[in-house]
Amino acid sequence: MDTIIGTDIAEAARFLQEGKCVAIPTETVYGLAANALDPAAVAQIFSIKNRPTFNPLIVHVRSFAEFEKYATGISPLVKKLADAFTPGPLTFVLPKKDTVPDLVTAGGETVALRIPSHPLTLRLLESLPFPLAAPSANPFGYISPVTAQHVEQQLGDKIPYILDGGPCSVGVESTVITFENDKVVVLRLGGVTVEAIEELAGKTELRTGHSSSLHPIAIGSPGQMKSHYAPKHKLLLGDIEKHAAEHAGKNIGILSFRKKYPDAAYQVQLSESGNTDEAARYLFSALRFLDACDIDLILAERLPETGLGRAVNDRLERAAAE
Ligand code: TXA
Ligand code: MG
Repeated sequence: MDTIIGTDIAEAARFLQEGKCVAIPTETVYGLAANALDPAAVAQIFSIKNRPTFNPLIVHVRSFAEFEKYATGISPLVKKLADAFTPGPLTFVLPKKDTVPDLVTAGGETVALRIPSHPLTLRLLESLPFPLAAPSANPFGYISPVTAQHVEQQLGDKIPYILDGGPCSVGVESTVITFENDKVVVLRLGGVTVEAIEELAGKTELRTGHSSSLHPIAIGSPGQMKSHYAPKHKLLLGDIEKHAAEHAGKNIGILSFRKKYPDAAYQVQLSESGNTDEAARYLFSALRFLDACDIDLILAERLPETGLGRAVNDRLERAAAE
């Protein structure tokens, strides 16, 4: 298939209206989008990504007013959080209405809703009579794409159009939350920090299941498999100098937070100034770069557990898991 990369919202909308999949930019990562209300279109997302159908999709809508078309349980707390953080990288898991096809929710009783803030995709959503189901636009289990070129490299021959919105500004996926007894439960760490949510909503519970041995339904957010974002090279997470000494003689790529390693053949510093937002923005590009290098293994270190550091560490831990 010839894939067009462009910025034409009307053209992207035409493909989507024909029931085809289109890659879309969001502030977090690029998504592989289809008409969320058309099961045949949604089925193509799963087959193009090679994604297991037990893993439900996020439904992207243009505004908070749309939530009530697809979900119940829209409490004052949901509204408060939506007012504060949307459009933006926060996804709400709420009881679903029958308007949402079962394939989107993997047969479950809840639906994940999010209002992305990327201007091109917001305009696209405003021009369409349906919402967009969209997982990250990577083959299942691989690193999420943060540029149109990343999407082209991995899914290029499988989709007719990539809407190019430039590099993603946040760089890690949305934070996924749900509610229990009017308290927030965090199912996936992401672009909105837990600190920011807790400032408005009080103490949250973290339920970001980590074990790949668990059956998916035993995990809070079914997509949270342990080995995810996996680069092809082995990635060791921890003390870079210690690991480097243990693997002396090997070809090593280094992914550090601030520090420079003058002897390394390949290295990326995520943020020389120690800014966790900047580190998150470059994380997936850095992993892709190192994965394409002729090396034996990648050594990476954790960020401080503040700001987006927690979401970055979560991705690094999954990338390191076998
Ligand atoms: O930033 C993002 O969220 C990106 C962009 C494209 O919007 N999308 C994204 O989608 O990361 P995906 O499919 O790669 O991850 C969605 C996550 C998965 O962990 C999935 O299991 C979880 O959300 N999820 C979706 N629906 C759910 C539901 N009803 N209940 C619990 N978790 C759900
Ligand atoms: Mg994903």
